[in-house]
Amino acid sequence: MKIFATKILPEISKEIFIQNQIEVQEWKYDEPISKKDLIQILPEFDGLMVMGTKIDEEILNFAKQLKAISLISVGFDNVDIAATTKLRIPVSNTPEVLNEATAETAFLLMQNVARKAFFNYKLMLDGKPKSGFMENLGIDLNGKTIGIFGLGRIGFVMAEKCKNAFGMNVIYHNRSQNQKAENELKAKYVSFDELLENSDVLSIHSALTLETERLFGKNAFQKMKKSSILINTSRGKVVDEPALIEAIQNGEIWGAGLDVSDPEPMLPENPLLQMPNVAVLPHIGSANWETRNAMGKLAAENMVLALKGEKMKTPINPEIY
Ligand code: 8YV
Repeated sequence: MKIFATKILPEISKEIFIQNQIEVQEWKYDEPISKKDLIQILPEFDGLMVMGTKIDEEILNFAKQLKAISLISVGFDNVDIAATTKLRIPVSNTPEVLNEATAETAFLLMQNVARKAFFNYKLMLDGKPKSGFMENLGIDLNGKTIGIFGLGRIGFVMAEKCKNAFGMNVIYHNRSQNQKAENELKAKYVSFDELLENSDVLSIHSALTLETERLFGKNAFQKMKKSSILINTSRGKVVDEPALIEAIQNGEIWGAGLDVSDPEPMLPENPLLQMPNVAVLPHIGSANWETRNAMGKLAAENMVLALKGEKMKTPINPEIY
């Protein structure tokens, strides 16, 4: 069996493939693989390991031999799942193992924005740190309200950290109520508008879907507190970026912390990169050694199972079995 990986894999994934006599070919170039290259390369492979690459129906139709797709990510908005299901190709993702790392990134951004940490650092690099007693102040997070949009696995960890570290009150909006969060964190379910109106920090942890695409736009920002901070570690497209820029410039919200953007990476000329109350990271949510290795291990195990004709551990389209 032969599989293709759209980026260089963690060593642990390759060890698992060697143990299972699976041959691996990786895309080793800095430039992401193009659709044209994928269409050309894929027909000879039995499996595909995907790290963020877009996989649409056209690509899948060329991949005549493809028996499985294993994503090394929890998000799967980059893959046409309906098409894979139609073609009876099993697909898996890597949930759970990145909960802590991603929530930590949201937490890191929240603290960073609240204290303008990146901005102050930039001032130091430029040789002009601000020293005035009332100059360049941040805001206190203690006892404030954290609003979680999409209280699933990652949102839960973020809410828990905010509660434990800063005694924050937790409110959330979700497709369904999260009983565990209500019991353990005293989290309160609110409507979307109430979430916007009452959050001091609003952290987005939802998937990118037709319903959530650009949901955080002009209308939403107008309803948020002028002192509020928006955090996004999910997908850039959930936020209408030009509207966010305007909202911060007009003082409709106080600031934002973004691990994701649209496009990615964020263009160097994007004004968000120069704003004092904004912190931007280049999509490093899951990027620590332990997490990336755990993701690589789970994704490789999923691929091995699928190539043996067995059910993957964390399937996205289990209905095909
Ligand atoms: C990945 C992510 O690093 O898991 C996700 O959904 O966004 C990140 O953890 C990224 O998708 C590349 O695979």
